[in-house]
Amino acid sequence: MSPSPSFSADAAQPLSPPPLATSSLDKIRIRGGKSLNGEITISGAKNAALKLMSAALLTGESLYLENAPNALRDIASQSDLLEYLGCAVKREGRLMALNASTVDNFTAPYDLVRKMRTSILVLGPLLARFGQARVSLPGGCAIGTRPVDLHLKGLAELGAEISIEEGYINATAPQGGLQGATIRFPKVSVGATENLMMAATLAKGTTILQNAAREPEINDLGECLIKMGAKISGLGTDTITIEGVPHLSGARHEIVADRIEAGTYIIAAAMTGGTLNLKNARLDHLTSALGHLSQAGIEVQQNMDGVLVHRNGHRLKGVDIMTEPYPGFPTDLQAQFMAMLCTAEGAGMVTETIFENRFMHVPELARMGADITVQGHSAIVRGVETLKGAEVMATDLRASVALVLAGLVAEGTTTVNRIYHLERGYEDITGKLSACGAEIERVGGE
Ligand code: UD1
Repeated sequence: MSPSPSFSADAAQPLSPPPLATSSLDKIRIRGGKSLNGEITISGAKNAALKLMSAALLTGESLYLENAPNALRDIASQSDLLEYLGCAVKREGRLMALNASTVDNFTAPYDLVRKMRTSILVLGPLLARFGQARVSLPGGCAIGTRPVDLHLKGLAELGAEISIEEGYINATAPQGGLQGATIRFPKVSVGATENLMMAATLAKGTTILQNAAREPEINDLGECLIKMGAKISGLGTDTITIEGVPHLSGARHEIVADRIEAGTYIIAAAMTGGTLNLKNARLDHLTSALGHLSQAGIEVQQNMDGVLVHRNGHRLKGVDIMTEPYPGFPTDLQAQFMAMLCTAEGAGMVTETIFENRFMHVPELARMGADITVQGHSAIVRGVETLKGAEVMATDLRASVALVLAGLVAEGTTTVNRIYHLERGYEDITGKLSACGAEIERVGGE
């Protein structure tokens, strides 16, 4: 198999990803008050794509990913890391092709890992296929300390020897490779489940992951690994069983639609009033959020090619939510839901149980006139009649998009600074929203 993967004509689609902002100082300017009507195509899930890219390290054959969100900054960062390791990565339109036959470097350096914590997901695949890996510790991030102890403990249970020196995780597999084991996670972790699932595909014998995470992105990764020849059962449950195989092969896989992007645009339509068709969106991946949205007064229907969302004209009602591992309410939609509660009738309580510092959007929403009181891990949001446009800034992806949502309904002009964060996880957000009637544009930073 060629080390440089090529695209087959049928898979490469003509759509090219929009260019990334040249400056992290670029801003988004929104003039609020327009209702959204029209169609938005939901991209492939960032949180699935990043792990699927790591899975390419498990084989010397080409992996082709369709519906890839190639315009995202996080995808570019992950490509940089994989290329640094010696993996060929090609991105064109919606297709990505990866080939890890020439990987000859097993170190993920600090400069690449600090940009994106998910880089830790190369640890399991490198260790499983090459018997060694050296990955910088990711360090803290804006939404909390986010340790990687569960990843390391699990890999050690597969027989890996792990030490931490000078900020790097050094891991080696025993002679003869990783050995299957039963691993019970003391806490549900998306990343640790994925890292261990990938490592176990090439381990000797059977691995059972108990108290595993059940997010749709994990199923997507598991389904792709099965196409590559892995033996995995129990996907979608909290017990995943993996029978190790000697090697994996190439495959072609279509990335699942991004449920968080879909949920964000459902909330956008709900807030502004209007009707949006969200092409490719899947309601079965948003069950918990939908229960809360319907209590708030939003009508959502699955149709042939996506999801139709409509607000019935009445003012939305305050609703309480609590974030939980899937299938509970997703922490990645908490900030957006809070933005929606800001102009709802009555109050709603938002409780965050996954990350300890995920209310950074609160002071910014307050600058726009929101009435929010934070008490520990909960925030009480008392709906106000209107928000007022302001200059705002957030330090993480979902907080930033919550400010965009608030700007869509605020009186006057809202300027969201540092759109760098948005470009990590939302493809062409200004283009998608303006095509549906929003007055939104990207402007250069001074
Ligand atoms: C993934 C998602 C992120 C989402 C999160 C929870 C990606 C790229 N990111 O992040 O968008 O918000 O799931 O749904 O898919 N923890 C430990 N030790 C560990 C690992 C995690 O204590 O070794 C803790 C974390 O600090 C956090 C909780 O477990 O409090 C859940 O984290 P985890 O599910 O691992 O999140 P990520 O995989 O990092």
